[in-house]
Amino acid sequence: MSWVVVPAAGSGRRFGGAFPKQYLLLDGQPLIGHTLDRLAGHPAIDGIVVVLAAQDPHWPGWRERCGKPVLTCVGGAERADSVLAGLRALPSSVSDDEFVLVHDAARPCLRAADLEALIEQGQRHPVGALLAAPVRDTLKRGDDELAVLGTEPRDGLWRALTPQMFRRGGLTRALEAALSAGVAVTDESMAMERLGLRPLLVEGSEDNIKVTTPADLALAEFVLSRG
Ligand code: C5P
Repeated sequence: MSWVVVPAAGSGRRFGGAFPKQYLLLDGQPLIGHTLDRLAGHPAIDGIVVVLAAQDPHWPGWRERCGKPVLTCVGGAERADSVLAGLRALPSSVSDDEFVLVHDAARPCLRAADLEALIEQGQRHPVGALLAAPVRDTLKRGDDELAVLGTEPRDGLWRALTPQMFRRGGLTRALEAALSAGVAVTDESMAMERLGLRPLLVEGSEDNIKVTTPADLALAEFVLSRG
């Protein structure tokens, strides 16, 4: 059984428009509502901390989903600041040794089977784990003028997805260390890797997409419509 931190304090700059992407409507409810339902609807999840932007006028004020508690706190300038705020806002009943999950609000299409595989494999691993998908495209390195400099071998390369799963205390210390060193960590695993730790990759579904552009929104709608 685990708590989940859901960072939802982003402004959605890359999506365009003034409205944060996590509140765009998907099949009649805000994108973040789908994300929370997929998490709270699973028996392995105890409760959720949603990390919101300061003075977020869009949050509908949910205090529970599917009968599970939903707590909120205020995030920070970067995703790592927001995740750290969420870890600090977890109830005191969650010990430092307990595994917690971190899952982006902008990923509404998480499958129960992926969540189960992550928890099952992650809790047996000394460090923790993350969902990930193998890179399938050919990778090019380009310069500022968009000239191709070369082709990067894709063997052994994975795209990091969420959820990611680490012990509350260890992840808190890893994020604190990264932030105080001024290192921009874009996921939880990266903060752990900086300390020489080697999290486990758990292969997840390609359709666990992060809604970043309007095209992703249409794709998420399609994935959700298939159940
Ligand atoms: O910006 P990116 O797409 O990586 O954001 C991933 C998730 O992190 C989103 O759900 C976004 O709302 C959240 N985020 C956050 N605080 C920030 C930046 C992003 O909670 N400062």
